Amino acid sequence: MRADAQAQPNIALIKYWGKRDIEQNLPATGSLSVTLDSLWTKMSVEFSDALPGDKLVVNAAASEKMLPRISACLDLVTGTDRPRASIESESNFPIAAGLASSASAFAALVVAASKAAGQDRDTLSLARIAGAASGSAARSLFGGFVELQAGDTNIDVETIAEADEWPLTVVIAVTEEGVKPVSSSEAMNRSAASSPFYSSWLEQQPADLLSARDAVLRKDFAQLAAVAEHNCLKMHSVMWGSRPPIVYWNSATLSCMEAVRHLQSEGHAVFFTIDAGPQLKAVCLPDQAELVRSALDTCAGVGRTMVSGLGAGARLLDNT
Ligand code: PMV
Repeated sequence: MRADAQAQPNIALIKYWGKRDIEQNLPATGSLSVTLDSLWTKMSVEFSDALPGDKLVVNAAASEKMLPRISACLDLVTGTDRPRASIESESNFPIAAGLASSASAFAALVVAASKAAGQDRDTLSLARIAGAASGSAARSLFGGFVELQAGDTNIDVETIAEADEWPLTVVIAVTEEGVKPVSSSEAMNRSAASSPFYSSWLEQQPADLLSARDAVLRKDFAQLAAVAEHNCLKMHSVMWGSRPPIVYWNSATLSCMEAVRHLQSEGHAVFFTIDAGPQLKAVCLPDQAELVRSALDTCAGVGRTMVSGLGAGARLLDNT
């Protein structure tokens, strides 16, 4: 009745921002991401009739805040008529700070829970359950370059290129370790309800997705860089145009962006992307990683940098 799993966060290059169905947490459009390898979340799930209620421990401390979402996700895996669960989670990076910790957490959770419940589900069905808890989590079930297609009633997710087919490096500049002020779910619903740019954002997503997919399949770094930065800045423009506005950036985010622009002007293969938080992620060719890291390390306001290659999808850990 116990199983352990591990998943890595993923970084979207074509963003998910907006829901087709809030209740079912269905994304309005498709998205494309890279799954990382050196950042991870481990989850252990143990079902037991002896427990008075579900219990969650995050990084060795009891956590009430995330428990309702975790319990609801377990209900989706097993049905509501299930034994109570003891869930333990450990991550080697800051959580709820715009580093996609919910993606790795829910991806690992569904894999561990399904095994602990004695099920034998395929990866897509696990991805659909994880996606119902956190839209981006569906992509962390898969490794490498991952495309999510948004259907009317369901999502489809697949790896379009393996990590070792095009081993890009991601350098993450952490500009603030605190929890973000507005959750991504709340922020995207506010964008949909109030941003004058939301409808054109949705209209243009299929073309951006197509261009990114084509760039990945042809390993065209310049094309991927152009469409990913464009897509990221459009998503943040939608947020800035919302009422009240949603601004996740700080001055260090902008310094990092400037540093990436400077490297680009010198001909280095690097581009940036930013999610629902103030951290900047720079994507580059592996031989540029040291240079990119030292450039971001010296930006005012950067607390630390983390470097990751691309990795595999969520998996069970051996001890189960
Ligand atoms: O999966 P959520 O609800 O945490 O939303 C993710 C939103 C972004 O990270 C900003 C974009 C994305 O596609 O991951």
